[in-house]
Amino acid sequence: MSASKEYILSDIRETVKWLLNELQGRKVMALHGNMGAGKTTLISALCEYLGVTEGVSSPTFSIINEYPFTLNGANDAIYHIDLYRLKDEEEAIRAGVEDCIYSGSYCFVEWPERAPGIFPPETAHIYLHHEDEHKRTIKVERK
Ligand SMILES: Nc1ncnc2c1ncn2[C@@H]1O[C@H](COP(=O)(O)OP(=O)(O)OP(=O)(O)O)[C@@H](O)[C@H]1O
Ligand SMILES: [Mg+2]
Repeated sequence: MSASKEYILSDIRETVKWLLNELQGRKVMALHGNMGAGKTTLISALCEYLGVTEGVSSPTFSIINEYPFTLNGANDAIYHIDLYRLKDEEEAIRAGVEDCIYSGSYCFVEWPERAPGIFPPETAHIYLHHEDEHKRTIKVERK
């Protein structure tokens, strides 16, 4: 299955709702796209929509950020992972990325191409493309 749409920054909340509907309950999301394509911006809007209250920023230096939130009244976490500085699967596993991906919690991953082999087949792959200064295209591919 694949679906796509264009969006500008002021449409991002609507885009998040569209994306969550396209995900059909999938919780692991691999976000592909060049630098500045809008991966962190989209994850931040998603986290805010899901009820994360703390500020969401790029975990480039920590690899994994964990944001507490409540899901259906229970305490849960969202993992925001940036693999940019990693070399391969082995480094990702050593950093604890696999544990997050298989935790059953939401897990949003930037630069998934650094460690493509760690993602389970049910992962939703999101492709962001920079159309111009303000416009982005988002494409969702999932099994
Ligand atoms: N429609 C849009 N969606 C998302 N970001 C947009 C849009 N239009 C403009 N922008 C701007 O583009 C930039 C996207 O930066 P962001 O940090 O989200 O990219 P990234 O894909 O996470 O990059 P990196 O690979 O460096 O982590 C922000 O400055 C944002 O304000
Ligand atoms: Mg980023």
